[in-house]
Parts: sequence; C-alpha cells; structure tokens
Amino acid sequence: MKDVFKQILTDFSFTNDLYDDSYNLLILHNRRIVAEHSREVAEECKRLAKRFGVNEELAEISGLLHDISAVFPFDKRLEVSNNLGLEVLKEEAEFPLILHQKISEVMARDIWNINNEEVLNAISCHTTLKRNFSKLDLVLFVADKMKWDQKGIPPYIESLEKELNISLEHGAYAYIKYLMDNKSNLKVMHPWLIEAYNDLILKFNMLE
Ligand SMILES: [Fe+2]
Ligand SMILES: [Fe+2]
Repeated sequence: MKDVFKQILTDFSFTNDLYDDSYNLLILHNRRIVAEHSREVAEECKRLAKRFGVNEELAEISGLLHDISAVFPFDKRLEVSNNLGLEVLKEEAEFPLILHQKISEVMARDIWNINNEEVLNAISCHTTLKRNFSKLDLVLFVADKMKWDQKGIPPYIESLEKELNISLEHGAYAYIKYLMDNKSNLKVMHPWLIEAYNDLILKFNMLE
C-alpha cells in the first residue's frame, strides 16, 4: 500500500463492513459532516439506482467512498495527488479541492480493493462528471448534488428534481446548467464539466 495511505490508517482497525469502515475512517480524521454526507449520498444513490435501473449495490459503494479522501486536509490534496502520480490539470492545481474525486478513486482501489471499473469511474468524476458518462456516473453525480454537504437547501434542487422526472441525464443537466448560469461563483471551470455539458446537449439533440 502507498505510504500516504498507511499514514492515515495508523490507529484504524477495519471491521470489513464498508458501511461502517468508510464512516469511521472519516470520523477518525474529524470529518463528521463528510461522514454523514457520504451515508446520505449512498442512500440517495440506492434510491436513484432503483428508480433508473442501475445496480443498487454498486451505487451504494460509490456513494460511501466518493468523498473518502476528505481524510486528507485541504492543503495536502495537491501534495497527495503528486505523491500518487495523478495527472493534475491546470484547473486542479489552481483549485486543489477538485482533486478529491481522483484521490478517492485511488483510495477505493488501494485500501478497499474495489476493482469494479464502473464504481471507480463514478467516484473519479463525481464532482465534475465527464464526457461519455455511464448511468452509474450520473447516479452518483446527481445524488451528491441532491444531498450536498453545505447548509440549507441547494438552490438548484427544484429544477433538478423536476428534470429527474424526465431522465437522469436531464437531472444532471439541470445542475450543470445552474452552474453555467452562475459561472461567476465558480472558482474554476473544470474541463470535464464542460465536456459533460456538451455531451448532454449532443445527446438531447439526437433524441429530437
Ligand atoms: Fe465530493
Ligand atoms: Fe460529496
């Protein structure tokens, strides 16, 4: 196992129950809000998976582990990414918070031995989505935005839920459209988000 991971696992004992272990590791590193958020996202993932015909178990695993890299402090994200040999885009170097999706993917693989590519992919793009997304990518992306980890009600929730009545893709689009309409609030515009946005528009046009 990579040294950076060994460090965060000191004093941690696994029970081999992913539901508890993912939660308890975040708690050990004082990330209670993220721990609760992850469980809520996992629940929402299961609900969405059932509703849209996606594997519920894989959806739940993605939800439980998507933010597990929160065990690393904000100011260590760039260093950890470099340490893991991850590709760091210009936008990610500018705003390293976004790197947490890629670090979580490596943690799911290296610490929990998750080798299901669908799960790993969903975790790795849960903040930004990306082009050629899968149904599971959409489930986790949407669930994460419905159960956000900030105070109050997400400003886009009404339109997201309304659009979800049409499809998962429409739900994801409603959220990205909200971001695009409020660009000035964004720290950086991640290229994967733009690609996902264009991909969704292309798909909708093909359906017309
Ligand atoms: Fe996240
Ligand atoms: Fe999250």
